Amino acid sequence: MLLHRAEQPAIFDVQNVSLSFGGMVVLDNINLSVRESEVVALIGPNGAGKSAFLNCISGVYPVQRNACITLDSVRLDRLPAHRRARAGVSRTFQGLNLISSHSVLDNVLLGWTTHFAQNVFGMLAQPWAALRAERLAREEAFEILDLCGLKKIWGERCSELPFGILRRVDLARALIGRPKLLLLDEPASGLSHDERPLIGQMVRLALTRKKLAVLWIEHDLDLVFSEARRAIVLHHGEQIDEGNPSDANQRTRLIEFLQKRAPRRTKGNVAISLVIGGKCRRIRTLTQVRPKIPRLG
Ligand SMILES: Nc1ncnc2c1ncn2[C@@H]1O[C@H](COP(=O)(O)OP(=O)(O)O)[C@@H](O)[C@H]1O
Ligand SMILES: [Mg+2]
Repeated sequence: MLLHRAEQPAIFDVQNVSLSFGGMVVLDNINLSVRESEVVALIGPNGAGKSAFLNCISGVYPVQRNACITLDSVRLDRLPAHRRARAGVSRTFQGLNLISSHSVLDNVLLGWTTHFAQNVFGMLAQPWAALRAERLAREEAFEILDLCGLKKIWGERCSELPFGILRRVDLARALIGRPKLLLLDEPASGLSHDERPLIGQMVRLALTRKKLAVLWIEHDLDLVFSEARRAIVLHHGEQIDEGNPSDANQRTRLIEFLQKRAPRRTKGNVAISLVIGGKCRRIRTLTQVRPKIPRLG
């Protein structure tokens, strides 16, 4: 029996994730889950803790003992980062983490190396198995490059490519190796208005070909809301609201929060921008002081 997406059980689940640095609370008891084939938007002002949360999931930052992170019934929170990647966690980075002196293909293949179980002795003992594994990896890399519209430039060096293309290479790298959870950290940031929809298309295509759960941090709300049916709002490390952006009222509420709830000009503010209705709107928020945020909805 085929289950409707809303009835499917969560493949990815996070319970009680908190994080502090030297007494500064960055994340305060975050709980969320994502179903297979679901895209969940993680939104909030700069400094809200969004990237820190992805770092806790991917294993860059440790989480406290009572936290529990599971992906497809595998407990991730005690595993080192490379074993989380092997368990199916894949991510892009807010600042690109590509090797500029290498080709597009080499960078995409990098995403696959965590799944290559053989060490150098194994390769010497069974060279045919290593060659076969490499052939399979290259086949999958070309499949992903095709999906991302990068097949024609597979041999180009990354240092010679424009930023818009590199963002797509980073996403292609994250898609190789059959991930179960894709973590996107502002994949459209730095892209022109015309280049951004391509990111949405790539995510949509990936979802039709693979069984994936997607957690997507984005400031371009038009873009992420076009793919996500659920949005979670983080502010000063707190999960303060959740809504369905395809419901007009809930979408307005989410946008209004991000526009209005952030305090006005105050000393020490950082300026942040959101793209709403095709226009870039500037709002401001505090980084240091924790204002009392009323819960919405
Ligand atoms: N390694 C770290 N050491 C100290 N503070 C950090 C570290 N990583 C993040 N933070 C702090 O955590 C807060 C949230 O950061 P971040 O998750 O990058 O925000 P954003 O929502 O913009 O992605 C910020 O105040 C940031 O300075
Ligand atoms: Mg960030």
